[in-house]
Amino acid sequence: MKMYQFLKVRHHKEFMHDIQSLFVKNIIGNTQARIKERGTAFAPSNIALCKYWGKRDAALNLPINSSLSISLGHLGTRTELRVCDEDVVYLNGQLQSLDADFAQRISVFLDLFRPALGTVHFEVRTENNIPTAAGLASSASGFAALVMALDDLAGWGLDKKELSMLARLGSGSASRSVFDGFVQWHAGDKPDGTDSFAEKLPIEWPEFRIGILELSTAKKPIGSRDGMNRTVETSELYKSWPKQAAANLETLRTAIENHDFPSLGETAECNALSMHATMMAAWPPLIYLQPETIEQIHKVQRVRSEGLEVFLTMDAGPNIKLLFLEENETAVSAAFPDLKMIKPFGAEE
Ligand code: DP6
Repeated sequence: MKMYQFLKVRHHKEFMHDIQSLFVKNIIGNTQARIKERGTAFAPSNIALCKYWGKRDAALNLPINSSLSISLGHLGTRTELRVCDEDVVYLNGQLQSLDADFAQRISVFLDLFRPALGTVHFEVRTENNIPTAAGLASSASGFAALVMALDDLAGWGLDKKELSMLARLGSGSASRSVFDGFVQWHAGDKPDGTDSFAEKLPIEWPEFRIGILELSTAKKPIGSRDGMNRTVETSELYKSWPKQAAANLETLRTAIENHDFPSLGETAECNALSMHATMMAAWPPLIYLQPETIEQIHKVQRVRSEGLEVFLTMDAGPNIKLLFLEENETAVSAAFPDLKMIKPFGAEE
């Protein structure tokens, strides 16, 4: 990297850090920390039915559109924090190199909170119980669990709205993982980000099922963050996305309130495919779908035309998540034998 490019990147990082630090300071305010020996928390992973795709502010991680997700019950991340002499990060029992992306992202995020706690370092132990093979992103549950564990350790007693805003700084989708069940992340429109937080919808739907179809474990050529930035900057189709997402979100809310599954399924599937259309119209094009993905999309359409009520959604990757109800569990499992079945409202199995 040339020297002036390096300086530009460094200044950019410092600028982001300063803005985020101020945001954190405003939320924690003068709340006195009473640091305990250990802080722990669990946060569920989540899958968006109306996707977050596009940022209006990179530093505060503010989205262009509101989104709506379902949390995955007991599947997610458990994190334990202890104060110690230097940062140490474990993932599923394995010590992580501090230079690697995973530990770096955690350490940079923790930097935002150190001033409020004195000069401290942490031992971070994080366990994901989502099979990595299921191809589900863990940054959402990871940052939500980290913020909640910090709150537990420091004894700040922050409310869920505040925790959601803090988790958002780590990863946008993490703002939704602070809650169970159906969750809406309000995009907000204030430049200071104080009206951009997630909220739980007070509706249970115990018959709701999600099936993960793991189709490829290949590393994604480009992550969500860069992918959405490229889409916003270059995709002509992105211009229609905010309006569509707003309309989809309203339809989804009504469908959830009325337990209207066909309306929910159609809207979620259309929303996911529309997001992929905006990505494909970016330059260079973003094509996360693999041949197996296309094959399974056609299969979902075929079994649906034969009368099975099953819909799909996808994130920035090649894997498919099927949406269906308990009454069709057996039929969906028969049609898609390698499915990993999730009961978002179910008790731990
Ligand atoms: C396609 O939350 O991973 O999964 O805020 O940059 O960390 P950052 O992005 P991230 O993006 C998630 C994108 C998505 C849709 C969604 O979960 O809403």
